[in-house]
Amino acid sequence: MRLSPKVFYEHCYGTYAIPAVNVFTMEQIHGLFSAGENANAPFIVQLTPAARNYADPKMLEAMITAAARIYPKATYAVHLDHGDDAHALNAILSGNYQSVMIDASHDNFENNVSRTKKIVDRAHAANVFVEAELGVLSGVEDDRSIDEELARYTQPSQVEEFVARTGCDSLAVAVGTSHGAYKFSGGNGIQFTILKEIQQRLPKFPIVLHGGSAVNKVEIDRINKAGGILSDGASGVSPEEIVKSIAYGVCKINIATDTRLLWTRVHREFFRDTPELFDPVIPGKIYMDDYKQFMLQKFDLLGATGKVSDLKF
Ligand code: 13P
Repeated sequence: MRLSPKVFYEHCYGTYAIPAVNVFTMEQIHGLFSAGENANAPFIVQLTPAARNYADPKMLEAMITAAARIYPKATYAVHLDHGDDAHALNAILSGNYQSVMIDASHDNFENNVSRTKKIVDRAHAANVFVEAELGVLSGVEDDRSIDEELARYTQPSQVEEFVARTGCDSLAVAVGTSHGAYKFSGGNGIQFTILKEIQQRLPKFPIVLHGGSAVNKVEIDRINKAGGILSDGASGVSPEEIVKSIAYGVCKINIATDTRLLWTRVHREFFRDTPELFDPVIPGKIYMDDYKQFMLQKFDLLGATGKVSDLKF
């Protein structure tokens, strides 16, 4: 069943979090929906402009609709991740998204406010939820790379004005995480003092954490043993930090890198171990199964397992 993230956040605020997972392929959509149905856990399936440009929005949306029929108990929202104005408008008008992100976080404050407000007005007229971003994360975002020097934490002193003037429904914040497999190269983790002040200034307002992948060392080792050359510096957000952030109002945890590392590990090991094979179905099935297991563990970690039965809508 498709629901608005509003329903999810009203239920989870302060106690558990919803994983929001970027999908590009059929195998990922199978793995995600199968896990969500099995765990009876709400989730957000999200599409980036890069995914839409790669597979075509119609293809992705059709696969999601098909998955909802294959896994009829899956309870989810469809979200546009890191939308620019054109993708956000297209997503709103398509009627296929319950939620869009307008990412004007690289603009100055005034431009961010005005671009976000324009999308909010269009989205709310269509009953679509809007995530905005204030502050800039470092790392690789879709197909662009954000320098650490250009990255900046969200300024808590700006959040009330930003939310009041834009009317956005949830806020992505820059509090120390970054996109990609090389987070925390400076050695810092989540800045809980900033997160706490944001929560105090925006009580009960849903906060979104981008850059939520764990970048499991075991996966990195397996990839490298199978011919990869990922650097030792690969690291992600620890499970303890993720769980701690929930009490500070983080309702949505974005995950993409972990599912890519999983894809890389499965396929590198498969072709290393069976170099005579060339059938996409075999590693594809392994990937779907491992993806499902990964998501089941993620639902448990975030406290989302079993929560569908308690949702009120
Ligand atoms: P990761 O790179 O940590 O998976 O973060 C993904 C993300 O935030 C997508 O918006």
